[in-house]
Amino acid sequence: MKSGLEDVIAAETKLSDVDGAAGRLIIRGVSLDDLVATSRFEDVAALLLDGLFDEHIDATSIRTQLGAARVALFSHVEAAADATLLALPPVDAVRALLARIEDGEDFASAIRLMAAPAVFLPAVLRLQKGDAPIKPDASLSQSADILRMLTGRVPTAEQTAGLDAYLVTISDHGLNASTFASRVIASTHAGLTSSVLAAISALKGPLHGGAPGPVLDMLDGVGKPENAREWLSHALDHGERLMGFGHRIYRVRDPRADALKTALKPIFASGQADAGRIALAEAIEAAALALLKERKPDRPLETNVEYYTALLLDALGFPRNAFTGVFAIGRTVGWIAHAREQTLDGRLIRPQSRYVGPLPKAA
Ligand code: COA
Repeated sequence: MKSGLEDVIAAETKLSDVDGAAGRLIIRGVSLDDLVATSRFEDVAALLLDGLFDEHIDATSIRTQLGAARVALFSHVEAAADATLLALPPVDAVRALLARIEDGEDFASAIRLMAAPAVFLPAVLRLQKGDAPIKPDASLSQSADILRMLTGRVPTAEQTAGLDAYLVTISDHGLNASTFASRVIASTHAGLTSSVLAAISALKGPLHGGAPGPVLDMLDGVGKPENAREWLSHALDHGERLMGFGHRIYRVRDPRADALKTALKPIFASGQADAGRIALAEAIEAAALALLKERKPDRPLETNVEYYTALLLDALGFPRNAFTGVFAIGRTVGWIAHAREQTLDGRLIRPQSRYVGPLPKAA
């Protein structure tokens, strides 16, 4: 057996396909490039959830329902964000607030769970800084409202498009650890809130969705392009992994890395972020890829989604300790879609383990 369950097929899904050899991601029949070019968050939510609930689902009605749910959920923050909760890392505070949402398996539950982290994360971040949280605006798209609730300003078109591109890019990705966790919980019919809570708990680990914050630490540590090789060599000499590189499935460049690199360019080109950061990131990326090739010649280690995520979310004004929470905002729709697929078509997930411990002494 392989302890990471590599190559084990544990579910059949119509939701997404990750082709690690070709570096291709398909979400419900649409390639990632096409999806990012044509979709906002609400479009990909409609695509992923279509047919999984009784309701007819389209992007316009999702936008309206998400707006109303954001407004309704704001009272949860006001009621529950005490000092103990606010002392937690943002993703843990969001998880604690999510746990207050009633479990259910209907579309209304799905909408609440997609809206909740979009409201909770900006509110938690503001409260942690000592600022008052900003009420949601139901008339805005989910992305525009998240940025407005974060900064207090209506975002520019480039910023909203950048966050939409991010949320679309990370909306679903095969049977990754958090999605598997969501499906395991769904297979017990515990309800969608329970699935999302399990998934967010899996996501926060640094080997899954916790990497982009450390990517930014790495950029800051390197500081100047000319320091890249020496700094990275030193990190590798000390047994560290370079954050934003390597992937369990992709043996070539993660297609999401390029989708995000494309998405962040208009924000930097229009002077809304420091263009020097892109040049630094590109220099570090090139040095890291060269070093990883030298040190691990037999293991293709390429840029993954987290690398340009760090640059994009930083440019949009999210603090680095919040990046995992933003990932959760985007991936919740994928977790819900998988949970529903599992509930509708699957059985209780109950694999076997092989006992390798001691046997009872013979009498
Ligand atoms: N930097 C340096 N070395 C790395 C590396 C990285 N980012 N990723 C993998 N390696 C090395 C491992 O140390 C291991 O070397 P060894 O055989 O000498 O022990 C070898 O490559 C294989 O690694 P393995 O742990 O089998 O890969 P995996 O498939 O289990 O891990 C990741 C995939 C994503 C967990 C791993 O690449 C990683 O930790 N990346 C950094 C964190 C990150 O960016 N996470 C976000 C993922 S989207």
